[in-house]
Amino acid sequence: MPKNIVRVVVPPGKTVLLLRGDITLAKTDAIVNAANSSLMGGGGVDGAIHRAGGPAILEECRKICGAQGPLPTEKAVATTGGKLVARHVIHTVGPVWNGGQRDEAELLQSCYRESLLLAEKLNLTSVAFPSISTGAFGYPVEKAAVVALSAVIETLAQLNSVSQAHFVLFDQFTLGVYSQAARELLSSGRFPSIGIDSND
Ligand code: APR
Repeated sequence: MPKNIVRVVVPPGKTVLLLRGDITLAKTDAIVNAANSSLMGGGGVDGAIHRAGGPAILEECRKICGAQGPLPTEKAVATTGGKLVARHVIHTVGPVWNGGQRDEAELLQSCYRESLLLAEKLNLTSVAFPSISTGAFGYPVEKAAVVALSAVIETLAQLNSVSQAHFVLFDQFTLGVYSQAARELLSSGRFPSIGIDSND
């Protein structure tokens, strides 16, 4: 396995990969966008996805918001991937960090769960996630990593179509934090059936 990639094996036959990279280049069936409720684009990963995918994504976002209003925090909707390799973009809205007193963990968990359930509904096999809420929305990465990994491991085990979830993390620090969180989840015994391979 290439250096710096961590693989979490989730029986039966599911995989969660942690790697460093630019999610706009991911070759998964769908990539997840850490959007805001307007779905009109923004900075960070949201801006990068709209720039790389082109105007077809924004056009569909406009239609969705026109029909159903702003996307609430924790929900997910899908659009085309436009010019991306990924055929679909799943847009979800993470919580803004408020000290942990406003159900941030539950809302963040729901973002990952809703995104995976939507991918399953679309019959997809693989989905790539960024680290939702840990940039502009200020969620501490150490806390977010545990929530994100637990939600993905738990949900993936319940799905049929989706068998691979990738965390495409933009910088080495974030990858290190997620890798450490995965090791801690393994040793906590919370998910007794998971295993971890890594070369770092
Ligand atoms: N690929 C992968 N990860 C990326 C990329 C990229 N191309 N660009 C940025 N990131 C990372 C950031 O480094 C951070 O770790 O995505 C993570 C999430 O950061 P943000 O994009 O700021 O997302 P979030 O904290 O959820 O804030 C959402 O930011 O731009 C706005 O419209 C967006 O208002 C919304 C808010």
